[in-house]
Amino acid sequence: MEAKKVSTTVSKEAKHNGFNRIAHGTSGGGVVETKLPPAALNPPAFGRGLRNLFPFGKNYTNLNHGSYGSPPLSVLEAARSWERQMEDSPDQWFRYDVYKLMDNMRSLMASYIGASDPKDVAFVPNASHGVNAVLRSINIPSDRKILYLSSAYGMVKHTLTYLSQSFRQEQLLPVTITWPMSSDQIVEAVKTVLEKPENKGKVYLASFSHIVSVPAAILPVKRLTALCQAHSSLVLIDGAHALGQIPLDMQDLNADFWVGNGHKWLYSPKGSALLWVRRDRQSMIEPTTISWEGQGNTHFQQTFSYTGTASYSAYLSMSAALTFRQNMGGDQAIFKYMHELAVKTGALLSKIFGTEVLLADDNMYSAMVDVRLPTTNAALVQTIPQQLLTQYNTWVPAYPLVLESNSTKYYLRVSCQIYNDLSDIEMLGNAIMTLIKNNENEQHKKQRKEQHKQ
Ligand SMILES: Cc1ncc(COP(=O)(O)O)c(C=O)c1O
Repeated sequence: MEAKKVSTTVSKEAKHNGFNRIAHGTSGGGVVETKLPPAALNPPAFGRGLRNLFPFGKNYTNLNHGSYGSPPLSVLEAARSWERQMEDSPDQWFRYDVYKLMDNMRSLMASYIGASDPKDVAFVPNASHGVNAVLRSINIPSDRKILYLSSAYGMVKHTLTYLSQSFRQEQLLPVTITWPMSSDQIVEAVKTVLEKPENKGKVYLASFSHIVSVPAAILPVKRLTALCQAHSSLVLIDGAHALGQIPLDMQDLNADFWVGNGHKWLYSPKGSALLWVRRDRQSMIEPTTISWEGQGNTHFQQTFSYTGTASYSAYLSMSAALTFRQNMGGDQAIFKYMHELAVKTGALLSKIFGTEVLLADDNMYSAMVDVRLPTTNAALVQTIPQQLLTQYNTWVPAYPLVLESNSTKYYLRVSCQIYNDLSDIEMLGNAIMTLIKNNENEQHKKQRKEQHKQ
């Protein structure tokens, strides 16, 4: 069979809109072009009208893009086409074609995240794999500690708890974050812990979310990174929510390790994430699963490029996701719409609920906003997401938060995407008020029944 044509050169027009241009026909066709379309000057209007570009069921309103993301139909089509190409001639694919294609993708994504060199980027299926690769690879000296925030994602905490079997529990150093905290207060809380006599010079690695999951807060990762590095600590940034939700610049951030999911906000299919490792730290890191080595210029590239037989279609479709973004008007237009809708969402929901958004400073969140629920009934709050799903065809996380005042309050996290608009938010707000009203009526009925029995 004739080898498929693969073009790997990166366009001279690279760096337009902050990333190299690359594209492939949505039909796949076995050809990788290296030229993205420019950002569309007249993109379609954002809002509910765009839902037909995504694979949602007819009446589904996705207000939880943050959990699992949602790839556009064109990206799913590209992934299907890559799958087809792989199965067309598996030996041609795995032995000859895929590494060239992946090299191309590495260049594209390195450029997109502002890395100085594609050699510093590896693909992993998700943030959990990336974080595990880092945490399981490093050998923590017995007199050093790992610092993390109480708001770290569960996966990070679970991995550390598991790994603490091989070091002492006292080596884990959680820093308590009590929301709402400002960026300055967060930096100060970490500084205070780092400067305690028992911790000074003892922190080996510090881990921070780039954007916390709940509540959805952007952390001051650049300042935290510089602070921890000044205290001789390595820094791992969990950017699961950052890729595609906010602009990124790896060179400027200068962390030691950074992981980001494509399948959340970038619009690539599930199972597409990046691990960026600073050049001088790469020899420390091995993938969690070691197999034959793939191809690449460095040991880091080689080991991560083949961790056992698996499909590369999700990774390769990241270029289709970037093409989609260009077709929608480019990153700046997407970021702007999502954030402005999140701010409006906070205002509208807090008006409907008679409450407030958690973070008064809207620079601390991007496309996800947390709003207080008008109830303190924990049992009811627990049922709200599933009731929304069964009765209103939507779902948002509802969760308790212990605040500064030591009181527990309940919040919703709403994700705002280019396929949402305020009518979705109004529907959500009214649905929640109805659920709360219905619950109150039920309670009254029960009480009356009880009184009647007595
Ligand atoms: C902050 C954060 N880190 C890591 C993850 C894990 O992502 P994945 O399940 O794709 O590994 C998530 C998922 O929501 C997250 O919010």
